[in-house]
Amino acid sequence: MYRISELADKVGLSRSTLLYYEKLGLISAKRQANGYRSYSEQDFQKLKLLQQLQAGGLTLKECQACLESRVDRELLLQRLKVLDDEIAQKNQARELLSAMLGMGSMREWHQATEKQAPEAHLQWLIKQGFNEKQALRLKWLSKDMNEHEQYMADFELIFDGLTRLGPGAETDSLTALKAVLLNSDALKAGLLNTESLKAGLLNTESLKAASLNSGELLEIGCGKGVATRVLAQYSDFVITALDNDQSNLDALQQSLQPLTLTQKVKIVCASMIELPFALHQFDVIWCEGSAYIMGAEQALKDWKRFIKPQGYLVLSDLVWSTNDPSNELRSFWQQEYPDMVSVEQRIKQAKQAGYELIDSFPLSEQAWNGYYQPLQARIYELEPIMRNSKALADVNRELEIAAKRLGQFDYQMFVLKRCSD
Ligand SMILES: C[S@@+](CC[C@H](N)C(=O)[O-])C[C@H]1O[C@@H](n2cnc3c(N)ncnc32)[C@H](O)[C@@H]1O
Repeated sequence: MYRISELADKVGLSRSTLLYYEKLGLISAKRQANGYRSYSEQDFQKLKLLQQLQAGGLTLKECQACLESRVDRELLLQRLKVLDDEIAQKNQARELLSAMLGMGSMREWHQATEKQAPEAHLQWLIKQGFNEKQALRLKWLSKDMNEHEQYMADFELIFDGLTRLGPGAETDSLTALKAVLLNSDALKAGLLNTESLKAGLLNTESLKAASLNSGELLEIGCGKGVATRVLAQYSDFVITALDNDQSNLDALQQSLQPLTLTQKVKIVCASMIELPFALHQFDVIWCEGSAYIMGAEQALKDWKRFIKPQGYLVLSDLVWSTNDPSNELRSFWQQEYPDMVSVEQRIKQAKQAGYELIDSFPLSEQAWNGYYQPLQARIYELEPIMRNSKALADVNRELEIAAKRLGQFDYQMFVLKRCSD
């Protein structure tokens, strides 16, 4: 027989717990002549059995049910499932903590966080020591803060020597330029030059309006200047070409010299998120394949204030060209470009942001080939020496997806006119 304090010591529980168990009928004390409680060996063993059951994660109530009758399999199965879920959660927590300590990949975490809280994610990355440029590249390219540096080094190696950094073609840029010029009497004036005439870009009617005035055009995310050179050659805009990557801008600067276009283009290294310009400074803002970086819808809203009333915004963006893409394409682009919408939706957003649609067309086949063919050739060249590169694997995957594009997605040019406020 055990006194309550002895039993408490033996099973490692407190006196009050034993009294509570007694109240529940799990154990039952006999009163001695002196009024003290005494417990039997049976009570002790019942408590040990109870503790064994509790070790399976059962609640006290569930343990009591197991002690008093046949084990309820359904109940145990439910408990097992709860435990499995808890273990999975704990494992995830463990993986995240070890990844944060640099011991694993953070890719999935970044992608999920980006989906649920994009702005907070960006701010958090900046707190981790990434500057805005790196944080945006992490968001769109490496997707993993632990592998960011290596990824970017590989990425730069892949694109080294390639001039186009996204789908686009001279003919498509010219078609959009023509749409702007022909739409605008005021702009038409300063934008004619002999090159544009040679290219048959303007008709005789618009020629009549020619004068020496010239407008200002800002190109955002100009990269190495594939569109900049076309705009400088075929229009008389005073062009500001902006990118946040100095090496791209250096390549652009170099390419302008032999074409004697240096005087026509001012180069600015800055972020599209914080444009260092005056309100209503530009007649036209031009952006080929770069608006996705801050989000095309956001770009429509944010850049409007830099465009003169009745000025233009020209941008190209990836769009769905079907309502029913294959599962493979849908899940790829959901990961890679979650803001991708249909042409109609983008136009609706543009109208809501205060633009009128002047023209909209899918980029030509040439625009895709001009980007992906040299990229594919570069991948073939680098594959043997970059076998474990994540950046190379990602670019390869994009090439595979692009090959399945037809009828499902496009790069769409939007020519928009800013409405007066
Ligand atoms: C897909 S490339 C397109 C470049 C060029 N328009 C072309 O078609 O070849 C995107 C460009 O945006 C630039 N970029 C990325 N983030 C930027 C930012 N926050 N501000 C300005 N430019 C940025 C990149 O350096 C790159 O040159």
